[in-house]
Amino acid sequence: MDQERWLAVDRYLTDLLIPADPALDAALAASAAAGLPPINVAPNQGRLLELLARVQGARSILEIGTLGGYSTIWLARALPPDGRLVTLESEPKHAEVARANIDRAGLADMVEVRVGPALETLPRLAADGVGPFDLTFIDADKPSTPDYFRWALELSRPGSLIIVDNVVRGGAVIDDGSDDAGIQGVRRFNELLAAEPRVRATAIQTVGSKGYDGVAIALVTDEGG
Ligand code: SAH
Ligand code: DHB
Ligand code: MG
Repeated sequence: MDQERWLAVDRYLTDLLIPADPALDAALAASAAAGLPPINVAPNQGRLLELLARVQGARSILEIGTLGGYSTIWLARALPPDGRLVTLESEPKHAEVARANIDRAGLADMVEVRVGPALETLPRLAADGVGPFDLTFIDADKPSTPDYFRWALELSRPGSLIIVDNVVRGGAVIDDGSDDAGIQGVRRFNELLAAEPRVRATAIQTVGSKGYDGVAIALVTDEGG
């Protein structure tokens, strides 16, 4: 089993289950044309985010790491008409591309893109009394994943769902001596998740068009700890 087969199977599944979608396809095309890296979630992963948000009955969603707004569009489409999504992005150019993509998808009224390093915009959200969020998707710089998880918890309520992308990193997550700050960040996050009494969580390995990685899902069960 190798990347070539994972890719072919992802193509097979996506061709069957995820029809071409003008707004999502245009978002990827505009992101590529603007030179953004192709590190958005895969289409079948985007659908998984949408399904989780729907099962959750989410009315408010927080995303950390917008890029071109591809995952943002999937998540926002799960919201009811009066729902809200706040997405945090440090790169002004990414935010600009994302806003155009979100606008084209007809979601501009529901989605707010906040520009700045998330470790600055998260405390501001908390201070402004925004939240709690029904669902948080963490998908930004990997060294800060543990900090983002702490903030996600702060901005959650019992019953909130926290989803964290990229927790396996090609299997490198088990290299305890790794000098890669991203791997160290993901390892510290997994340890934090394991030690956190306020959540019930799991992590799953994934393969496909985005290579070999994984996703963690945590349900906030208790405010008190
Ligand atoms: N969720 C997107 C992909 C996000 S890629 C999707 O699936 O479509 C990660 C994004 O996090 C990049 O756009 C990067 O610029 C952004 N990022 C990196 N460091 C950040 C930080 N400190 N604060 C906020 N965003 C950051
Ligand atoms: C990277 C980031 C991601 O969020 C992802 O899904 C894949 C790769 C990266 O920074 O390399
Ligand atoms: Mg990711």
